[in-house]
Amino acid sequence: MQQFILSSDVMRSIMKVVHQVAKYDVNVLLTGESGTGKELLARIIHLQSPRAQKPFVPVNCGILSGLMFEDKLFGHEKGSFTGAIRREKGCFETADKGTLFLDEVSEVPVENQVDFLRVLEDFRFLRLGGNELIEVDVRIISATNKDLKDQVKKGLFRQDLFYRLQVVPIHIPPLRDRKVVIHKMVGHFLDQLATTYKKPKPTVTPEVIDVFCHYDWPGNVRELRNLLERVFILNSGDAIGLEQLPSDFLWHFEELPAMDLAEVKRKAETRAILNVLNRMQGDKERAAKTLNISPRTLRYKLNRYGIKVDLKGNLLS
Ligand SMILES: Nc1ncnc2c1ncn2[C@@H]1O[C@H](COP(=O)(O)OP(=O)(O)O)[C@@H](O)[C@H]1O
Ligand SMILES: [Mg+2]
Repeated sequence: MQQFILSSDVMRSIMKVVHQVAKYDVNVLLTGESGTGKELLARIIHLQSPRAQKPFVPVNCGILSGLMFEDKLFGHEKGSFTGAIRREKGCFETADKGTLFLDEVSEVPVENQVDFLRVLEDFRFLRLGGNELIEVDVRIISATNKDLKDQVKKGLFRQDLFYRLQVVPIHIPPLRDRKVVIHKMVGHFLDQLATTYKKPKPTVTPEVIDVFCHYDWPGNVRELRNLLERVFILNSGDAIGLEQLPSDFLWHFEELPAMDLAEVKRKAETRAILNVLNRMQGDKERAAKTLNISPRTLRYKLNRYGIKVDLKGNLLS
């Protein structure tokens, strides 16, 4: 079974709620940024529930709309549309007696929301092209990285559907708000990687943990896991120090050089003007033409940037 790393007060209180809700078929809405562990938590709720031996069926609500959406969720009968060569079950039927995980539920197309709500209320539906009412017994857990209440306000998500889904809301905070867990997670993921790749588990220097704690992790736990996997695969040593971290990661900590745009422009224009003047042997008319500016503009820029050239177009300093 997958382990869910807690090590912070917020996560421990989340787990208490999880233990409670797992026992009952109550609808749970998991919210949190991408990569915070919503799907993993949904699986844990399922595994702690009386439905643990039955299927856990995840479905991404964001990729389909209209009939395709209905087909994916409710299935179809043979011949119900071109290409429907045999009867096909939808996710609701596949998840019968188990748990249906509605991922990115904010993306259920507005046109499908009414029918969807009805099914979530009585768990009865027709397959596309069918006339036999199918009845299923599924537990619903949904997840979103959007603010659903806000979507409701904007008219993009039905309010009744929202209340149906979020009987118990659980919010998972971003990794940057629970940095105390980073140390333990690093150990956990390296254990996992060592097992997966049959390679000894490396140690990690305190400097690396320190750097990790100073980073914001926009991709949350998924980003941390992926970074560790990359470092783990690419290094054969038995310790991970700062030198082992990829440079594109370390860039986040480097001071940016001054990037005054006016200065950048002055330097680039000066270089171009000198180059052209030099090639045109100091002929300002022709240089202006090549630079696609008027001779007047060229004179102005020479003045303004303090560029002085001799008759042959060489820089006089
Ligand atoms: N608390 C945690 N402990 C261990 N692994 C975690 C934890 N949170 C997330 N992960 C791992 O991080 C990755 C992303 O998690 P996932 O559940 O897919 O996030 P989300 O659904 O919110 O985008 C997965 O590999 C998951 O196993
Ligand atoms: Mg996800």
